[in-house]
Amino acid sequence: MTQQSIHFTLNGKATDVTVNPVQRLADVLRENLHLIGTKIGCNAGDCGACTILFDGRQACSCMISAAQADGRDIVTVEGLMEENRDGAAQLSKLQQAFHDHGAAQCGICTPGMLMASHDLLTRVNEPSEQDVLDALGGVLCRCTGYRKIVDAVLSVGRGQPMPAESGNEVVGSRIQKVDGIGKLTGTERYGADSWPSDCLVLRAVRSPHHHARFSFGDFTALHAAYPGLVKVLTAADITGQNVYGVYPTGKDQPVFAEGYVRYRGEAICALVGDAETITAIKEEDVPIQWEKLPALHGVTAALDPAAVQLHGACPGNILVEGRLASGNVDAALAKSALVRSDRFQTAFVEHAYIEPEAGYARRVGDRLEIFATTQTPYMDRDEIALIMGLPLERVRIIPSAVGGGFGGKLDLSLQPMIATAAWLLNRPVRCTYSRPESMASTTKRHPAAIEVAVGVSKDGKLSAVRFHGDFNTGAYASWGPTVANRVPVHAMGPYSVPAVRCTSRAIYTNDTPAGAFRGFGVPQAAIALETILDDLAEELGLCPFEFRYVNALDKGSVTASGQKLEASVGLRACLDALRPQWQQLKREAAEFNQTSRHLRRGVGVGCGWYGIGNTSLANPSIMRIGIARDGRITLYSGALDIGQGSNTIMMQICADALGVPLSAITLITGDTDLTPDAGKTSASRQTFVSGTALRLAAEDLRRQILRLANVGEPARFSLDGQAIKVSDGTIEHIVDLSRLPTVTDQSDVLVGEGRFDPPTTPLDANGQGVPYATYSFSAQIALVEVDIDLGTTKVLRIGAAADVGRAINPTQVEGQLHGGVAQGLGLALMEEYIPGRTENLHDYLIPTIGDVPPIDTYIIEDREPLGPFGAKGIGEPALVPTAPAILNAIRHATGARITQVPATPDRLRAALRALQPSKVAAQ
Ligand code: FES
Ligand code: FES
Repeated sequence: MTQQSIHFTLNGKATDVTVNPVQRLADVLRENLHLIGTKIGCNAGDCGACTILFDGRQACSCMISAAQADGRDIVTVEGLMEENRDGAAQLSKLQQAFHDHGAAQCGICTPGMLMASHDLLTRVNEPSEQDVLDALGGVLCRCTGYRKIVDAVLSVGRGQPMPAESGNEVVGSRIQKVDGIGKLTGTERYGADSWPSDCLVLRAVRSPHHHARFSFGDFTALHAAYPGLVKVLTAADITGQNVYGVYPTGKDQPVFAEGYVRYRGEAICALVGDAETITAIKEEDVPIQWEKLPALHGVTAALDPAAVQLHGACPGNILVEGRLASGNVDAALAKSALVRSDRFQTAFVEHAYIEPEAGYARRVGDRLEIFATTQTPYMDRDEIALIMGLPLERVRIIPSAVGGGFGGKLDLSLQPMIATAAWLLNRPVRCTYSRPESMASTTKRHPAAIEVAVGVSKDGKLSAVRFHGDFNTGAYASWGPTVANRVPVHAMGPYSVPAVRCTSRAIYTNDTPAGAFRGFGVPQAAIALETILDDLAEELGLCPFEFRYVNALDKGSVTASGQKLEASVGLRACLDALRPQWQQLKREAAEFNQTSRHLRRGVGVGCGWYGIGNTSLANPSIMRIGIARDGRITLYSGALDIGQGSNTIMMQICADALGVPLSAITLITGDTDLTPDAGKTSASRQTFVSGTALRLAAEDLRRQILRLANVGEPARFSLDGQAIKVSDGTIEHIVDLSRLPTVTDQSDVLVGEGRFDPPTTPLDANGQGVPYATYSFSAQIALVEVDIDLGTTKVLRIGAAADVGRAINPTQVEGQLHGGVAQGLGLALMEEYIPGRTENLHDYLIPTIGDVPPIDTYIIEDREPLGPFGAKGIGEPALVPTAPAILNAIRHATGARITQVPATPDRLRAALRALQPSKVAAQ
């Protein structure tokens, strides 16, 4: 291959490098120069993660060839640091502002955001908000909802750094992310950022067909044509079980398909060799014979009695059914003063984390190590052990930093393939999915076909909800059972309803597998229910906001599953907080509409609730704190931070629970050899479940210290080198750590451990029981502007309130609300994954910085007695009400009821055309 020597200035230094001239500059920076701060999210100019300064202006380095870089001036995130007066490196003002404002969550977009912001601030001293939106419009962020990024850039322009907080309390304060610096400087190691020097590269070969049989030919010619190809891995190479899945009794997905594929994108084999060869191999050179079969797309096709059975164990293609029933629904609906019903359809939604799946595996003696992006290291370890046929203790998962997950990294992806290759070849093997590969092969939000009927009495009280949802779980089960079981519990919304029948089914099809995605089906159900609630309010002449308030669950309410809510039920407090803004926005919209013809404004409201953790299943977390002989405190946390901030939250809880400063604690996180099992990062559970386990670990450690000092509560202790000073108010006792024996491999002499499994009960056949120990509540209002000629919708403002029990870190709670709103906006207005058609970030649209409006947040703290310092969860509740609020706002603006999301311009125009002309004008 042609090689060329190129010369450029890189972060102020003259740089020479010999490369293939057509190599992408992003690749040169990362692979040849090891500057891994420049990220690759798409390699197609769509995401902006690779943004650098190129001759002083922002540019996507994935779209610049190495030859074009010759003679140029290049700055990457590694070149942003400044020197302080003593000549030491420190964060630039811009990086510091990102840190202070909480503008980086997972951090994978942060280098690109920083470079685009730096470009702007170099050109414009004090940029306006519109300047920021324009300058950062090419960089996508899936976590933050952009608003804190905007605030950070504006604060630098205005020369207004965020004031430092005072006070000793750690819980409740807005401390910066404890793992934030690496995200801001480009030193954080994501799945694609680390690899042993002698690594081979793996690329999966995937089905181009939705449903097909296949067979392999002879690979001899392939090896001859590509001498750098070391091995073609197939199902025959799997050393244990060629099947995986999240439920022990429902494993149905092969690592490599065995002669039969059920979806486009399914892996059938993998090519392993040197990087150049693996990139060069053409798929048509791999000898595969295909026999295409008719495919079942969507649940209607799969439920047809004549449809082929995709999995023998599931007749009718029905994977699982869920049900909750209380009261006599049919009688209650018949007696209701008013009943409204309709059908709704939602789409596949792609997680679109900016970091594609990536990692490496290696054999270390008789053990296997996997460094990869994941949300669930312990589940990965257990699954890999089964696939490899190895005992658990011979598998170690070392999670990389995670560049966004949202549920999509709860399933295995590349891990079994790199593990098998590394094991068999006794060489490290790495793999990074391309963006189209990531989108085609990994799970999505379930499309839902929903029918709902809601009854109400004359006085505006809900009397009955009948709900049925069919969820397209695609080719494999993944988290389909979780969705089918969670939806019936939540489908009547956070309201008191005396008669309920909610049923659900997860249906196998030949579509991309659907799995976990922020809300596990609850956001889809909320779209249907909340639309019908507005129908009823309109018909009864009630304010939709007050209609919800009257029916809201409250302390002492009994849910449809028969659970009495004893504490921490803050929905009405959320609505109280939002009410002044609701009234204000309604006035503004009415005023605007008086003089506007084709632009119409409207305001909508939506509410949500979310059971924290697994539905009626064991859901334990174990946390551990150690004190070493030198007085060093280590928090061993298996609660994986995927950008949502659990590292910081756990450190805050640990510091206050022990009564020591944050700086006294070192954090070790995620590594299955070093940390106990804290369960998966999903279902908004880590703060509540692992946070409580951590509080118990701190109490355990404290008890041991007091016992060693021979004092009782309420003695206080402090650390002073190798001594713990314990004071009971009169005498100071010294615990000499140097005299204690070491009890762990990490040199700890004292270890406190806590385990917490939220108290739930199994649900009976009618879904009666205690599915969750606690619930978070949320409500949102949206102001939208609809162009009734074009069918476009612009969201102008969001008010987002959430009862989180206690905000351990308000900045992070706001960040979760912002991120949830942005994803909810995408769900409502633009996101629709179509297998085979929208497998890149050019055709699949997610909200950009210009799409997310100002968001006013209202944090409600109705303390949860079981939670750490009263905290519950926020990740998923942040998203549930957004789409309903936006859709109801569209209806308020135009009269158009949206029953299929996303509400794209064509669908909205069709809904508008279906209206009487007078109704549009009258809104
Ligand atoms: S990686 Fe360059 S734009 Fe996405
Ligand atoms: S912080 Fe922007 S993608 Fe995660």
